Amino acid sequence: MMDKIEFILKASNLCKRFGGLSAVDNVSFEVKSSGVTSIIGPNGAGKSTLFNLLSGSFMPDSGTVLIGECDITSMNPEARLSVGMARSFQITNLFFDLSVIDNLRIASQALEPHSRLFLPLSKSVIALERADELLEEFGLVEARNQLAGALSHGQQRRLEIAVTLATRPKLLLLDEPTQGMSQADTQETAELIKRLGLNITVLLIEHDVDLVMDLSGTVIVMAQGRKLAEGDPNQVRSNPLVQTAYFGEELA
Ligand SMILES: Nc1ncnc2c1ncn2[C@@H]1O[C@H](COP(=O)(O)OP(=O)(O)OP(=O)(O)O)[C@@H](O)[C@H]1O
Ligand SMILES: [Mg+2]
Repeated sequence: MMDKIEFILKASNLCKRFGGLSAVDNVSFEVKSSGVTSIIGPNGAGKSTLFNLLSGSFMPDSGTVLIGECDITSMNPEARLSVGMARSFQITNLFFDLSVIDNLRIASQALEPHSRLFLPLSKSVIALERADELLEEFGLVEARNQLAGALSHGQQRRLEIAVTLATRPKLLLLDEPTQGMSQADTQETAELIKRLGLNITVLLIEHDVDLVMDLSGTVIVMAQGRKLAEGDPNQVRSNPLVQTAYFGEELA
């Protein structure tokens, strides 16, 4: 039944106000299964707030969020993991004073059957297997026993993505995963996101426009809480509204 649904995520008329400010103002969009969809827009456009509404960190004032046919609007973030949604944060979400492997084991523990969820970490076999798998996949094997806080910035951001994948989500929300990265780390992360998009659906917030255009099947542009434009990278690039409001001099 699920494979009949063309869209994995559907947001309808989402609104979120902070006092007098409309941070997200009647935003609707759909995300197709698999591939990378990106959200771009200037600082303060409402991108992270939108993610908070999608991931259940904030409840919307109005509007709905569906995963497949399931209405998840009022589900908390933990419940959303069980319907296949996971997210990263713009600000780091790692335990800096724990080792790399323990960060991954903790994140993977949700895979244990319910009866085993509260086992001591050391007995959590499924979590350990998943954690070791992720170490391999993310090139962190040599950093296995280092403290997360001692990793390079690039390694930390990679570990964060690995942590979000621990529960094998169908839909992954990434909020500026390349923020503060060197050019080389950014390129590497871009390749990684591209690969992820072959197997799961990725919704990405990203500042680096060139990166977005290269990676994404669909780009959504936000400005002042609203959705300004949506389409494939070329359509978005040539949209006059987007040129004026966002790219400005950059593309002129
Ligand atoms: N918890 C909050 N309380 C009050 N105002 C908020 C809160 N979170 C965000 N805002 C405001 O909502 C607006 C949208 O912020 P948001 O963080 O969603 O933008 P953004 O597009 O992610 O920006 P950036 O590119 O800088 O990350 C901003 O004006 C911000 O100051
Ligand atoms: Mg943000």
